[in-house]
Amino acid sequence: RNNPNSALYEINNQAGRLYNILLMSTELGARARDYLEERGISTEIIKRFNIGLAPDEEDFIFKNLSQKFEEGVLANSGLFNFSNNRVFDAFKNRIMFPITNEYGHVIGFSGRKWQADDVSKAKYINTSATTIFDKSFELYNLDKAKPVISKSHEVYLMEGFMDVIAAYKAGVFNVVASMGTALTEKHVHRLKQIAKNFVLVYDGDSAGQNAIYKALNLIGEGQTQVAKVPEGLDPDEYAKTYSLESLAALMKNGRIQPIEFLIDFLRPENLSNLQVQLDFIEQMAGQIAKVPSLTAQDAFIRKLVEILPDFEYNQVENAVNLRRENV
Ligand code: GTP
Ligand code: MN
Ligand code: MN
Ligand code: MN
Ligand code: MN
Repeated sequence: RNNPNSALYEINNQAGRLYNILLMSTELGARARDYLEERGISTEIIKRFNIGLAPDEEDFIFKNLSQKFEEGVLANSGLFNFSNNRVFDAFKNRIMFPITNEYGHVIGFSGRKWQADDVSKAKYINTSATTIFDKSFELYNLDKAKPVISKSHEVYLMEGFMDVIAAYKAGVFNVVASMGTALTEKHVHRLKQIAKNFVLVYDGDSAGQNAIYKALNLIGEGQTQVAKVPEGLDPDEYAKTYSLESLAALMKNGRIQPIEFLIDFLRPENLSNLQVQLDFIEQMAGQIAKVPSLTAQDAFIRKLVEILPDFEYNQVENAVNLRRENV
């Protein structure tokens, strides 16, 4: 083979097939499917996303694959841990989400714990970095989403696997997730080659809001919108609480402009102090001045005035005007 990585793709592909078979046809798999069913994941979704189950054994995958691949491939596959002359499967009793590169090759996995009595700390475990798997570059679901992103020039960014799957069930396909790690410059750079608009659909908790703030700075406010998921829910939970249609509606019609998110996110706790209000106006004026449409600027000035006890429209507008001249 000419591609030095082709054996690594192949071993990950074969591991994925094994995980899938174990989910679909073992006793433990039947219970894992009950868990998935409860979370709204049907057999059709299992097939579509090639979901699997790592067995509750120390080296089942190793025993099955060690004869078929060279030692170097086994060692660099990310599928095994080597310690004290012994080899262990990297994943034990976890629901397996294969991660594919943009061409659809399996390059790694994320495994979720699923049994109530599983005492391991991490909810998800990812394949460690390999020559074919770099979390700061790869995006979950990019291979499937790419044609739809290219066509619509728009990409939805989410946090998790289950969120992407919920969006798929809701009929929204141009969706990717950066797997737990923050969005990176590399992720944004490659997405910008195919997308013009970005829509952030992060979890409705403080981690999600902080991630939105960082992503806005990374992508640029001019081409980003925010679909805010209500407090305490993530997109998957939102769909489960309301409906798939509601999730699709939130993603498509429930978007706000970055400035509206920022007014809310950066809003000081105690706005009764005059200096605090002045500082906040100062901070927001620069952001508002950057908004291209004057009508939109006007709307944001009104929003800001609404929450400021001691300032009126003209005063905020003046601050924005000063910034406009500096733009
Ligand atoms: P579910 O509980 O299965 O719905 O997961 P979630 O996607 O809602 O998880 P959460 O919002 O807590 O985290 C978002 C993403 O971060 C997940 O999809 C994972 O990719 C990643 N993540 C979450 N927990 C862990 C962890 O313990 N370790 C690692 N490495 N990644 C994690
Ligand atoms: Mn076009
Ligand atoms: Mn979260
Ligand atoms: Mn979540
Ligand atoms: Mn979730």
